[in-house]
Amino acid sequence: MRFPEKNTSILISTQQLQQRVAALGYAISNDFKDKPLTIVCLLKGSAIFTADLVRAIDIPLILDFMAISSYVGNDTGSNVMVKIVKDLDTEITGREVLIVEDIIDTGLTLNYLMKILRARSPNGIYLCTLLDRPARRIIEIPIKYCGFEIPDVYVVGYGLDDQQYYRNLPFIGVFNPLT
Ligand code: IMP
Ligand code: MG
Repeated sequence: MRFPEKNTSILISTQQLQQRVAALGYAISNDFKDKPLTIVCLLKGSAIFTADLVRAIDIPLILDFMAISSYVGNDTGSNVMVKIVKDLDTEITGREVLIVEDIIDTGLTLNYLMKILRARSPNGIYLCTLLDRPARRIIEIPIKYCGFEIPDVYVVGYGLDDQQYYRNLPFIGVFNPLT
C-alpha cells in the first residue's frame, strides 16, 4: 500500500488523470498549431503533470521551467508578492506562453506571475491548470485549460505535496492528517 488508507482517499484516479491529460494535449495541439509555443512548468508541483502533458502534445514546443515562492506582502493577505527562485532560460518575447500549474487556489500567485511574464512581451499568455479549487478564489484569473474542478479539500499526489511528501503518488488523493 503506497498511501496510508486510514487518513486518505482517492479523489481522481490514475486512469482519470491519463484520459484528461490526453484530451488537454489534443486541444492544446490544435489551438497552437503553427504557433511558437513555450510551455512554462512551475516547479515543483506541476512537474509530473507537465511531463505527461507535453508528451500528449504533438506540435513543436519549447519546454522551460520556473520556480517561484510567494509571500504575503500585507496584513489582509490579499497582496501576494512572488519571488522568482529560478527564472526561465529562454526568451518568451513574441511567443505563445502556456503556464502549467498544479492547482489554482486563491489565484494570487498566478495573477502576480502573469503580470511579471506579460512585461516580457509574449504574443499571448495562457494558463493550464490540472486542478481548480474555485471555493477559495480571491482574484479571478482566466483559465484556458483546466483538468478538474475540485471541492474545498487539501489534495496530494501527482506532483502535489504535503511538506514535500506524496508527490510521487500516481493519483490525486484527499489528505486528512490524523489528529
Ligand atoms: P494560490 O492560487 O496563489 O493560492 O496558490 C496555489 C498554490 O498553493 C499551488 O500552486 C500549490 O503549490 C499550493 N496548494 C494550494 N492548495 C494545495 C493543495 O490542496 N495541495 C497541495 N498544494 C496546494
Ligand atoms: Mg505550486
